[in-house]
Amino acid sequence: MPVCQEKRPKILVIGSINMDMVARIDHIPLPGETVLGQGYSFAPGGKGANAAVAAARLGGCVAFAGCVGDDSYGQALRKTLTDEGVDDRLLRTAQDAPTGYAPILVQAGGENSIIVFPGANRSIRPEDVPAMFREPVDAVMMQLEIPTEIVLLASREAEARGIPVILDAGPACSFPLEEMRGLSIVSPNETETMALTGLPVDSEAEARAAARALRERSHGADVVLKMGARGAYLLTKDFESMVPAFPVEAVDTTAAGDTFTAAMTVAYLRGEPLERAVRYGCAAGALATTRLGAQPSLPTAAEVEAFLRARE
Ligand code: RIB
Repeated sequence: MPVCQEKRPKILVIGSINMDMVARIDHIPLPGETVLGQGYSFAPGGKGANAAVAAARLGGCVAFAGCVGDDSYGQALRKTLTDEGVDDRLLRTAQDAPTGYAPILVQAGGENSIIVFPGANRSIRPEDVPAMFREPVDAVMMQLEIPTEIVLLASREAEARGIPVILDAGPACSFPLEEMRGLSIVSPNETETMALTGLPVDSEAEARAAARALRERSHGADVVLKMGARGAYLLTKDFESMVPAFPVEAVDTTAAGDTFTAAMTVAYLRGEPLERAVRYGCAAGALATTRLGAQPSLPTAAEVEAFLRARE
């Protein structure tokens, strides 16, 4: 880990890292249709790397474990991590696959559609996992954009060391949640919840039912169900409530969920009660939607604190 002040939470993120191509368009072309876009740019992304950079900007001491290809995107993404103060020693350069790549179509209004070409994210090897746990950390954060086998294996390594696991259950996929170990918090959004439980989340009542199902499947983990512009539904052993979102003018929702989970994790590890940590996550996620792109949109701790102060 980089040299960290004692009180900064130490977080290991095991996850994906992609080069994003962000294209602004009026609408998604229909089959056979050609549309002119408003503009495009390249920006670092990937759910894992977004969470790692977000946590670092918010005061976490972060190590990132994953895989890039031996190419210019891989080199650029590694440099972005180190520039942000994220420890890249567990980021392997694979020779057998290109760096992950994600074209993102952002429509007027901020809704996005993402295609992920996982590339080297699929090259994380089971034998790499034990080495990820050589140095002590306060928590492990993972998402589902890397092989399931790796997520499950890492959860067992974490449990064996008593390290809490925070799972941001995106992107939507069928994932054997009940096989996770050491799970402290599971945090899917509505579509990811549907993929995991088969239950819709269109209202608070449905969120409550889905959160209970998620809690059962995850052997009693706390559940933080992300509901976008509505906020998040929180279910713990002795507490359940809807935490409202902060209304903002959204430009691009890319990485808002990654930011939310990272911010919630940092605040929680700093000792905030989970409900306060979720509120902090809502603020950070809201700020991320006000800017274009994944990592360019991630807020700093000072920005989140000023945002919250202005709303007290
Ligand atoms: O959550 C947003 C991220 O999803 C993007 O950065 C893209 O790379 C995909 O991983």
